[in-house]
Amino acid sequence: MGAIDHLGIVTLGADDAREGLLLSAEAHWNQNEADWRFFLTKGTVFGIRDGDRLIATAALLPYTSNNAWISMVLVTQNWRRRGLATKLLDACLDAAAKQGLTTWLDATPAGATVYGPLGFTPTLELRRLRFAGSTSPATSKPRPAADIHLDDLIARDHCAMGFDRGALLGELSRRPGSQLISHGGAMALVRGGRTARQIGPLFAADAGSATALIETITQSETGPILIDVVSEHDGFLKNLTNSGWTIERPFQRMRFGRATIPSAAPPFAVAGPEFG
Ligand SMILES: CC(C)(COP(=O)(O)OP(=O)(O)OC[C@H]1O[C@@H](n2cnc3c(N)ncnc32)[C@H](O)[C@@H]1OP(=O)(O)O)[C@@H](O)C(=O)NCCC(=O)NCCS
Repeated sequence: MGAIDHLGIVTLGADDAREGLLLSAEAHWNQNEADWRFFLTKGTVFGIRDGDRLIATAALLPYTSNNAWISMVLVTQNWRRRGLATKLLDACLDAAAKQGLTTWLDATPAGATVYGPLGFTPTLELRRLRFAGSTSPATSKPRPAADIHLDDLIARDHCAMGFDRGALLGELSRRPGSQLISHGGAMALVRGGRTARQIGPLFAADAGSATALIETITQSETGPILIDVVSEHDGFLKNLTNSGWTIERPFQRMRFGRATIPSAAPPFAVAGPEFG
């Protein structure tokens, strides 16, 4: 097992998006190059190189009210279990401490084993579900994007998260192929990903209207779709698994530092584990 002391941490820039994408693709993640560019331009992405090759990353994305998200914690297969993720997390936590930020993340089971010992504590549980795609041609179109305004989605998101993510939701919703969809009072953002479309965030008054919105979306999509459901919405989860969605993996939301925001009613589905 090689030592890692000689490997320094660098701050990555927008030109590193393609190399970042190689790491997330190796882990079979759904982020695309636009996601990487967002982290690289709006946040701080720390990286470690072995010579020219990027072998590990971790991103710190600041939101408002002294909160930030840590994500894109990735170590290439043959460099794992040598302390690289821990070293990069330390860099993120140092940067967050200097700015007085409380940090959050959505951990894979492997990630949670790194974050727990560093002092992160569990909050919400999430379940990632996949819909393989409809075999029949699209029968009905979702209501047009004009049906909901970005401002409405941002306002609902602010209530649920306790801080403002207008810049993120604006960028995601303006990408080619993104849609803001509502049905029966429920609303969601649908966007493209590397291997599947992604639904989230999704806000609704109850499981029934959340499920009806998902049915509207699946009728208009033909390829695979992912959604990260907040586990406490168990009726919604059950409706999805009864209609062809399969649970792929859990995520554990974790927080480092004191809560700066009152806890609010969580969304039915989050924007994605990388964004919160
Ligand atoms: C999770 C991941 C980032 C860990 O990176 P890493 O550099 O291997 O982590 P570290 O070497 O810093 O691990 C620190 C400790 O965490 C624990 N740990 C890390 N990976 C583990 C695993 N797969 N299983 C069990 N424990 C693990 C161990 O206690 C380890 O210490 P040890 O090796 O001395 O026993 C890496 O496996 C990875 O990229 N996985 C795929 C993507 C992913 O899940 N990222 C996390 C997103 S939240």
